[in-house]
Amino acid sequence: MQESMQAGNGYGNLTITRFFALHVFVLPALLIGLTVLHIALFRKHHQTPPWWLDEKELQRRAQPFWPDQMFKDMLAMAFVFAVLVIINFKTHGAPLDAPADPSTAFDARPEWYFRSLFQGLKYFHGFFEVIVALGAPVIAGGVLLSLPFVDRGPSKSPRKRLPYLAVLAMGFGVAAALTAISYSEDRNSEEFQSAKAKAHARSQKARMLAKTYGVPPAGGAAVFTQEPGYLGKKLFKRDCAGCHAGPVNDRKGPEIIAGFNNRQYISDLLRNPAANRFFGPTKLDEMEPVTIKGEDFAALVELVYAQTGADDANSALVLKGQELFDDGDCSDCHSIDWETEEDIGPNLGMRGNPAMLREFILDPDHLRWFGEKNEMPSGKGEYNDAELDELVDYLVGLRTAKK
Ligand code: HEC
Ligand code: HEC
Repeated sequence: MQESMQAGNGYGNLTITRFFALHVFVLPALLIGLTVLHIALFRKHHQTPPWWLDEKELQRRAQPFWPDQMFKDMLAMAFVFAVLVIINFKTHGAPLDAPADPSTAFDARPEWYFRSLFQGLKYFHGFFEVIVALGAPVIAGGVLLSLPFVDRGPSKSPRKRLPYLAVLAMGFGVAAALTAISYSEDRNSEEFQSAKAKAHARSQKARMLAKTYGVPPAGGAAVFTQEPGYLGKKLFKRDCAGCHAGPVNDRKGPEIIAGFNNRQYISDLLRNPAANRFFGPTKLDEMEPVTIKGEDFAALVELVYAQTGADDANSALVLKGQELFDDGDCSDCHSIDWETEEDIGPNLGMRGNPAMLREFILDPDHLRWFGEKNEMPSGKGEYNDAELDELVDYLVGLRTAKK
């Protein structure tokens, strides 16, 4: 049965199609059938009068179905319809979450009326879970169906049928308690709340992207691929993040996250090149912390910063930095011209510039940079031009990205 419902061994598109058909064709047909049955039974047995009225009073109050009762029915229907329309306008119908993505986890929750069953199942595992999942609704339905056959007393007074009502009340009580527990567990679970917030943010983003760029032919989760920088981010995550953005102990290279190569990053690097954030995890350990202070230090930072091509570099400060660089210790180990190779330290010319990053990814062990000590795998042959551009754009974007 499971296989024919999900149309295969697992959930998939066919499952959704099948359930759509079930809800659009089969269930409405069933509902119409039940309505017809209800009207037939109603005509046969007539209305159930309130239990506190005796025969005489009933006779006195009897009214024809048409038009009195019909009018009341119409009023009630109009009222329910109005409430549904208002709810629809307020909530915009069924909630529109982010497109389903099989590669991300999603904490699904059933509607409130199934919450009790959902919560109840948490207390059973394996074989028992199946038994309870199938058994509980069968037992509940069975009890309801058997009520008219078991409870055959002529009186309609609730006092005369307490045991049956007690069974019903117990059922409702258990369901209400399980529902309350389920909601309160979710409310108090930080994990669930943060997953929910993330899912909400994702759905907002999906809608924003769909509004801005339209929905691509692939549909669904493909809206996310339209975000500028999506490919670069994805490639970085796949190929670089392990060495550059991973947890401290797994990381093998300098930290490349939001803020990479901004002024703060560069000044932190110069102050402590061997820090775990920078060359700590690598074989490179020859540069001493820079101890120069004040404006001179700011000038050196500005000089390195200007290499990235950032358009807000202060050119007066850069000139001053260049003088300090040439006159001081830096030039003993570094060049800053792109051409010179095999200094003690890497050539700093164009460091962090898009053109440099492109070359660097393809050729990190170039003698201009880290030469023999390089531990970063070359990206040669791994990317086409567009992918390389996206990757570089991503790295450059980090400079101004917020943490
Ligand atoms: C003793 C030689 C030496 C001196 C002096 C020196 N550096 Fe370095 N520098 C290196 C080496 C070698 C590296 C590579 C990292 C390592 O081995 O610690 C490096 C790394 C760097 C980096 C990072 C390069 C990259 O690709 O990430 C910058 C920026 C830098 N140095 C700037 C300077 C500045 C500015 C000065 C002058 C204040 C300076 N260095 C002085 C040897 C030196
Ligand atoms: C196996 C680990 C590893 C992988 C994978 C890796 N890198 Fe690196 N990367 C390093 C190391 C180590 C360094 C330090 C310099 C060196 O060893 O050549 C580095 C240096 C860099 C630098 C220079 C940082 C600086 O401060 O000058 C950039 C930029 C960079 N990597 C980008 C990337 C990109 C982009 C990718 C993915 C395409 C990537 N890396 C993949 C290990 C890695």
